[in-house]
Amino acid sequence: MKRRTVDIRSTLGPVALRSPIVAAAGTVGSVVDFNGVADFEVYGAAVAKSVSPEPWPGRTPPRLTSVGSGMLNGIGIQNPGIEAWKHTIGPMLAGVGVPVWGSAVGHDARGFAEVAVGLEAAGVAAIEVNLSCPNLDDGHLFALDASAAAAVVRAVRTATTLPIGAKLSPNAIDIADIAASVRDAGADWVVLTNTVWGAGIDVETRRPKLSGVVGGYSGTPIKPIALRCVWEVAQAHPDIPILGCGGVRTGADVVEYFLAGASAVAVGTAHFAEPRVGKRIIKEVERYMTKHGTSSVRELVGAAEPW
Ligand SMILES: Cc1cc2nc3c(=O)[nH]c(=O)nc-3n(C[C@H](O)[C@H](O)[C@H](O)COP(=O)(O)O)c2cc1C
Repeated sequence: MKRRTVDIRSTLGPVALRSPIVAAAGTVGSVVDFNGVADFEVYGAAVAKSVSPEPWPGRTPPRLTSVGSGMLNGIGIQNPGIEAWKHTIGPMLAGVGVPVWGSAVGHDARGFAEVAVGLEAAGVAAIEVNLSCPNLDDGHLFALDASAAAAVVRAVRTATTLPIGAKLSPNAIDIADIAASVRDAGADWVVLTNTVWGAGIDVETRRPKLSGVVGGYSGTPIKPIALRCVWEVAQAHPDIPILGCGGVRTGADVVEYFLAGASAVAVGTAHFAEPRVGKRIIKEVERYMTKHGTSSVRELVGAAEPW
């Protein structure tokens, strides 16, 4: 990384980050696929698409569409399963020049734990627990239920010694309550947030835009929703480290997340329109810091002024 005039290093709980931006899960493939496409040298970490215990086929097309200025996806977490992932992607992780985090998903706590063991064996640097997935017991998302989310995080905590982040849903009624619950179960930080539930209908064909009808809405329109989640968790539980995520496209977006209380910020949908967006974002953050006499990004975390 080039010599910088400001210090952009940050931390997320026990993890030291050379840069405060992280490539969000599912938006840079397995990370290995995006090597040379995204400028991974300006990222602190990149998160691979979520992996489940067994292969998941995903939904049938259409499963990705643009809606207004955002994106709607209903991919259904298509992935080859942890055993295949470990053998195909694992050996290439060391060559990508950015710490790669795995993302675990499953339909019960045991499944998440099995994936965590496989991800650790594959050589990832940390694990995100993707709690935006239906629970086999009642079909509800783990991320909407404090005790179900905690049970998954506890199982992953027991299965791995790696640092873990719990990725929550903005659809939760009380996000601060869920964040406290996963912290108590052993999460080192929370990721705020995953996509927002959304739907679209093609008015000409009158058919839903996604085969599964309801999908995850992402991109610039969701920033105020995810930022509100960061704000609520930071206010209620200042001890919980936060990775902000949702609608980031510019350096100013990243600064806004810091001010709300995030220590690092993930970039997702922006990669589809601009794969090298990371380099521009970091330049914009550095320009902001120089203009405002900020020497370290850590000074910005939670630094919003009261109204
Ligand atoms: C096409 C697509 C695939 C995604 N796949 C995953 C995934 O596998 N696991 C996960 O935790 N989040 C996944 N996400 C959610 C993103 O990581 C991110 O949380 C969300 O898109 C909000 O950030 P953004 O507005 O910057 O995209 C996906 C998002 C998109 C658009």
